[in-house]
Amino acid sequence: MNNQDIVNQIRQKIDIVDLISEYIPLVQKGKNYFGVCPFHNDTNPSMSVSREKQIYKCFSCGASGNVFNFIMDYDHIDFKEAIKVLGEKAGIEVSGITVAPKTTKFDKYYDMYEIANKYYQNNINTKEGQKAKEYLEKRHIDENLIKEFGIGLSLDNMNALTTILSSKDYSIKELDNLGLASNNHDAYINRIMFPLHDISGRVVGFSGRIYDNSNLNKYLNTKETIIFKKGECLYNYHIARDHARKLKYVIIVEGFMDAIRLSQIGYKNVIALMGTAMTSEQMHLVKKLSTNVYLSLDGDNPGQNATLNIGEELTKLGLNVKVIGMPTEKAEHDPDEFIIKYGKESFDNLVESALNYSDFKINFLKKGVNFNSDLELSNYINSVIKEVSNIKDEIRREIILKKLAIETNLSYNTLEKRLNEYLEFQKVVAKEETPKVEVQDKKTTKITKYEKAAYALIYGMVNDPWVIRKFEKEDVRLLTKELRYLASEICYYYRKYGTINMADFYTYLTDKEELLVVYNFITNLDYEEEVSVKAIEDYITVINEYNMRQEIKRLSDLVKKENDPIEKAKIAEKIRLLRIGE
Ligand code: CTP
Ligand code: MN
Repeated sequence: MNNQDIVNQIRQKIDIVDLISEYIPLVQKGKNYFGVCPFHNDTNPSMSVSREKQIYKCFSCGASGNVFNFIMDYDHIDFKEAIKVLGEKAGIEVSGITVAPKTTKFDKYYDMYEIANKYYQNNINTKEGQKAKEYLEKRHIDENLIKEFGIGLSLDNMNALTTILSSKDYSIKELDNLGLASNNHDAYINRIMFPLHDISGRVVGFSGRIYDNSNLNKYLNTKETIIFKKGECLYNYHIARDHARKLKYVIIVEGFMDAIRLSQIGYKNVIALMGTAMTSEQMHLVKKLSTNVYLSLDGDNPGQNATLNIGEELTKLGLNVKVIGMPTEKAEHDPDEFIIKYGKESFDNLVESALNYSDFKINFLKKGVNFNSDLELSNYINSVIKEVSNIKDEIRREIILKKLAIETNLSYNTLEKRLNEYLEFQKVVAKEETPKVEVQDKKTTKITKYEKAAYALIYGMVNDPWVIRKFEKEDVRLLTKELRYLASEICYYYRKYGTINMADFYTYLTDKEELLVVYNFITNLDYEEEVSVKAIEDYITVINEYNMRQEIKRLSDLVKKENDPIEKAKIAEKIRLLRIGE
């Protein structure tokens, strides 16, 4: 079997509605399914998924494709990776499939980082890496973890990496732009190097840690570059992705040391923020992994404040947030230190007893409140009730209010009355807020009858081989170069594989981007699948008519330019004959 056959087999085994449902909620309406399109910013269900055709399309942004296109775009993975992921799902062996790697204009930079990464990793195993190894050992980072996370070492030498890369056709200016050099010297000197990957899993930066007692900054991170955007990067994301989906939750920690430790004790679904800030891009990336998020930030003040802020934002995004309680005393306030000191089981218990975000917040609100002060007490009560008003689960609301009644010595009814006032108030606010109606940027360009005929013909070709045969027999010449090219690929595919359908042809076009754009446009037009012989013949007639008009126009222009009266008459006669034919 060749590549395309295996790939088609995988596609046929994986139902598109089932697959997309794992990523976004879909609702059935008629024979199609609808959901909020993940490929543009929207709240309306503009994406439709067809079980019959096994394709999806978005009416708003025009995204469309089959199961492969969906996960490639959703997870920013290439075709090869998509085959691997879906092949595994379908239980089909894919090791024999060869796919040419997709090239991008940044390949040179990724290569550069690959070289740097290998170089740093090698250093740590040399004699010069001895001290760094000892440091890591002291921090319970063993050989396996060093390998797994690609931990390396930059030497105590200002020109080590710059020399290597300059000899390989990279200019010092490029090294500087890409954050590997600064002021004509290595950017990283004598640090333990942690490679940072983008969401597709390519190395795009480093974080270097001091390991002797120097008083330099503890960590030095790659500056923002065209391939490294800190606000869009989450440590271990490319590894955590599949684990989080399988386990149906993701754990967020602050530091990559924490992520490495959690991964070591079995929490492979962990990602690190690399600090206490979380951008909205990062939040959306997390939302792509799971709707269940566990926050396991440090127990210190910045960590707890970040838990409060990030938890609030993630909740607003519709995620279920839980908070893993860290000891707030100084000694072991991050997950790494906690696990080293108390072991895996103690951490498992923390995960097991994680609080709902709202409970965490209420505990947080209570901190330091003087219950003897009327003002502080009433502020506290109001802020708790406000929080409760955001909870959808009525049972949880009641439980919290009952607890609040007991601890504040107020009657349950009073508290409930206040809660209802809040809920009423929120309803009024919600009504006053003008509903956000997204202007759908539907393609307003008019399609001429000739274009429609050409599009409908191609649409027919991928739905019914009979149309392909007719197309070839009549030797139809389509309006534009792109359309002609697309049609010839359809004919080629059909001849080669003996069959064709809309979904599989998407896969065939994966690396033919210009054609994919045209194909997307056409499949989005939603013509009838089953077209009559008469309709196809009419389309062909319309296209032929177009071609003839074009020819007449060309000849008319020629007549105007021609000076020789005999030649002029010849062309005029040609035009006359064409017109009679019309
Ligand atoms: N960080 C940074 N620069 C610093 C300090 C911290 O970029 N000067 C980032 C790092 O990505 C680090 C994260 O913030 O992983 C959390 O900081 P911190 O808790 O101080 O680091 P730890 O992960 O605890 O690192 P270590 O255990 O090595 O001290
Ligand atoms: Mn730490």
